[in-house]
Amino acid sequence: MKILSIETSCDETAISILEAKGVFGDAENPVKFKILANTLISQIDIHKEYGGVFPALAKREHAKNLIPILRKTLEEAKLNNQITKTKNPWESNTQVEEILERESDLLKLFLEYIPTIKIPEIDAIAITQGPGLEPALWVGINFAKALSLVWKKPLIPVNHMEGHLLSSFIGSESKTQSQKSKEIEFPAIGLLISGGHTELILMEKFREYKKIGQTRDDAIGEAFDKVARMMDLPYPGGPEISKLAQIQREKQIDSVPSTNIKLPRPMLNTDNFDFSFSGLKTAVLYLIKNLKKDLLAGKAGNSRNELPEEIKEEIALEFENAVTEILLKKSEKAIAKYQAKTLILGGGVIANNHIRQSFESLSSRGTDLEILIPEREFSTDNAIMIGIAGYFKYMEQNPKPLIGQKKKGQLQTATDLVNLQANGNLKL
Ligand code: KG4
Ligand code: ZN
Repeated sequence: MKILSIETSCDETAISILEAKGVFGDAENPVKFKILANTLISQIDIHKEYGGVFPALAKREHAKNLIPILRKTLEEAKLNNQITKTKNPWESNTQVEEILERESDLLKLFLEYIPTIKIPEIDAIAITQGPGLEPALWVGINFAKALSLVWKKPLIPVNHMEGHLLSSFIGSESKTQSQKSKEIEFPAIGLLISGGHTELILMEKFREYKKIGQTRDDAIGEAFDKVARMMDLPYPGGPEISKLAQIQREKQIDSVPSTNIKLPRPMLNTDNFDFSFSGLKTAVLYLIKNLKKDLLAGKAGNSRNELPEEIKEEIALEFENAVTEILLKKSEKAIAKYQAKTLILGGGVIANNHIRQSFESLSSRGTDLEILIPEREFSTDNAIMIGIAGYFKYMEQNPKPLIGQKKKGQLQTATDLVNLQANGNLKL
């Protein structure tokens, strides 16, 4: 089947079309995915000015970008078939107007474009329901509801974090061919590390999630971003810290570090699977304050109130080492306790080179542990992962009707769709 998926939970507007077949765990009929189209617009440059994501702006940008992105995605998948007749393909605009009542810019673009194309040959629409920024989620949901209504396609609400957990099901080969996806041996442990989440998940069966640990304060991506801001690095800070750390890591291969910057590893040895990053963040704050005091006193040979590049690199390296050590230790502990056969990583922070490599090296330690790490391009937010999670949810719930799904050929009504709500705190 072909799934069109939409992701607007934060600062990326993304739409993809996946061709999916097969059943999880069925060797005769394995799961295969092919990417027919994948489009993403990042709002990073817009939010940079504010040092973080500004929800009202994110909502406005999604509303502006959704139709152009949809058009591009349909073109890429060769599903953008124009209609020559001028009449609307659906009976009235009233329901669309109701659904997009709060998105007037999007409604205008929707009514300009959608009636000009034939209903694309897709089987379902997957949409991120949460967690995320509610104003941003709502734009995507309302858009998906309107498409579902006029195209008469079932709508599959997807949990963004399940998308991250299943993102290693797709590889870059899927862009050109139908690629067999990974199998998972259970029990499996999932480690979710993103801008809003740091969680350890136990999976005893496919699509059954039990949270066994989480951060008690900041999420790891948030800590990366805040530490970056303390060093006057632009948003999002994760990739910036990662770059600086990498430079210093290479330098230190041939020489000893010039300072002894040392940061704490909070909750490293606690007897649970929880995390805490706010103490680490505060330790960086005080470290920087003290270093700047020394700088102003001329001790470090610099009279400006700015950290020298070398020191920023060393802080970045030590911070990256500290969080990596914590993530590894907690994951290993969970793997041992639950005798997990698979470790699944997901979330934007797994785009980090050092963290990836550290986890990759876990599997070379001679254990039978299988480690699933998403490709870097599918680690940060994207619509492909929403399509994957949507496919599995659809397969599991079919033939039970999903929200908005009616018997073939029957028009869905707005009341079928009305129940779907954005949920900024949606749990797995
Ligand atoms: O999953 P994601 O794209 O969005 C959320 O669902 O939150 O994750 C975004 C987070 C940001 O905090 C960003 O700084 C972090 O992932 N991130 C990184 C790297 N790339 C993105 N953190 C560390 N190293 C990276 N290379
Ligand atoms: Zn995410």
